[in-house]
Amino acid sequence: MVAFTVNGKEQNVNVTPDTPILWVLRDHLGLTGTKYGCGIAQCGACTVHLEGQAIRSCVTPISAAAGKKITTIEGLSPDGSHPLQKAWIAVEVPQCGYCQSGQIMSAAALLASNPKPSDADIDSAMSGNICRCGTYNRIRRAIHQAAGNDTQGGAA
Ligand code: FES
Ligand code: FES
Repeated sequence: MVAFTVNGKEQNVNVTPDTPILWVLRDHLGLTGTKYGCGIAQCGACTVHLEGQAIRSCVTPISAAAGKKITTIEGLSPDGSHPLQKAWIAVEVPQCGYCQSGQIMSAAALLASNPKPSDADIDSAMSGNICRCGTYNRIRRAIHQAAGNDTQGGAA
């Protein structure tokens, strides 16, 4: 039994301690906003926050979350009004959408630690999140928009 908090709610899950957080979220708690991509910490689709840090939930065992707080895309804001979520809609970032919850969670961790990131800061923070649809330019624009940075140029 491992006890932890997900999106502000206490959870007790009866799994072996080495079970990846991703499977606890998806299979035991029904939080399917977090996606399985590669399973080997290479794509970022499974990104959630553990104590505010962006982590790859596919390779992080639930034992690492004991007594700690996990935040998933479902818990980023109570009503979908996080600045990144608004910007994502305004910029129309997603194509297929599969990678996007992981992208947003990485971006949210970036803005929490660096509220006014430069292009280089964004590229560095987001480099572990792969998008097969190639939405990178729009992701960058949306992060700038959420940060309130002046941005130029049209749709990318
Ligand atoms: S599924 Fe975790 S990084 Fe790809
Ligand atoms: S929007 Fe399709 S993989 Fe990123």
